[in-house]
Amino acid sequence: MGTIPETMLAWTKMRPEEDGFELIEHPIPSPEAKEVLVKTLSTSICGTDLHIWKWDDWAKSEVPLGTITGHETCGYVVAVGSSVNSHKVGDFISVECHLADWDCPRCEEGNAHICENGSIFGVHSNGAFAPYFTILASSARHNPPGLEPRHASMQDPLGNAIHTLTGGPVKDSTIAIHGLGPIGLFAVDVALQMGASKIIAIDWDNQYRMDIARNLGADLVLGKDDDVQAAIFEATGGKGVDNSCEFSGSSAALANAIKTTRMGGYLNILGVYGSEPKVPINDIVFRYLHVKGINGRRMWATWDTMQELMVEGELKIHDVLTHRFPPNAFKTAIRLMLSGECGKVVLDFN
Ligand SMILES: NC(=O)c1ccc[n+]([C@@H]2O[C@H](COP(=O)([O-])OP(=O)(O)OC[C@H]3O[C@@H](n4cnc5c(N)ncnc54)[C@H](O)[C@@H]3O)[C@@H](O)[C@H]2O)c1
Ligand SMILES: [Zn+2]
Ligand SMILES: [Zn+2]
Repeated sequence: MGTIPETMLAWTKMRPEEDGFELIEHPIPSPEAKEVLVKTLSTSICGTDLHIWKWDDWAKSEVPLGTITGHETCGYVVAVGSSVNSHKVGDFISVECHLADWDCPRCEEGNAHICENGSIFGVHSNGAFAPYFTILASSARHNPPGLEPRHASMQDPLGNAIHTLTGGPVKDSTIAIHGLGPIGLFAVDVALQMGASKIIAIDWDNQYRMDIARNLGADLVLGKDDDVQAAIFEATGGKGVDNSCEFSGSSAALANAIKTTRMGGYLNILGVYGSEPKVPINDIVFRYLHVKGINGRRMWATWDTMQELMVEGELKIHDVLTHRFPPNAFKTAIRLMLSGECGKVVLDFN
């Protein structure tokens, strides 16, 4: 593992404005009793990082200035806190960014991803756009042998996709994926692997991502030039799909999803909406839909499913993961994400 230096350069949100990031020298953090110190292998850029870059109202209310951001990450344990016996130096881990206390009623009922005292690594506290980070050992998930290290940081958004899809039936079922950002694209890939009978992938106007969905194997790809609702009914014998997943954060897409889920079908919503969406609520009632909000990943059921698929399945992660950059190209990478001409974008620290 080599010797651990005393300081590091880390991308830090310093100024309350768009961009506002600087490469700042920080001491290498020491792990607290229940933490591990990790040498970063790679950190992916998430839509959340774009909110922090733009410094919108959400970012202003959640992210303390001076925070090292970045939460989709993996790396090698290089030191362990005094009470950690679950991890040892050399372990290869990925971060579950929803930090939980494992002690509240939500954690006790198996919903640690919505812990009542939870916080988000790399948003509320220092994260991993940095060569080293500390993390609670309980949030440092061991990666199984056989998992491609260059894909290990991707498990946060891939897990979002799996958690959303599995809110309804997937095998032998018709699925609509609304929104083909990185998470929607991962969902297309996973639905195929899990044996969906038909996958309809819908974006607005991002041709780059619609092409990726086609290459992944979506049966039908729709965009703003199509009558999305009519096309979904036509493709499903007039019934609508068994399982609609909303990954766009657009209220128009949410309305399409509600209108085109079959009677008694499943609608799983991961998208986050800028303003209160106006939706056809009576369709939810009369179509007898099972509607579910999805947050984060189940600990650890989603991770178990995901790692089995990653090691034993034939996911085409490399098709969704379109760009890799060195850490000093952080700003170039963010600007590429803002352009939308990409799938998942990753910074390689080692
Ligand atoms: N709930 C959670 O835990 C959680 C976690 C991560 C991300 N999210 C949210 O999930 C969503 C997906 O994240 P991402 O990073 O993949 O998204 P993204 O913003 O990169 O992609 C969204 C895509 O939706 C497309 N789109 C826009 N309008 C559309 C419409 N009317 N119909 C269909 N597609 C449309 C856009 O062209 C874009 O390609 C976002 O809303 C994000 O905020 C939620
Ligand atoms: Zn993320
Ligand atoms: Zn809790």
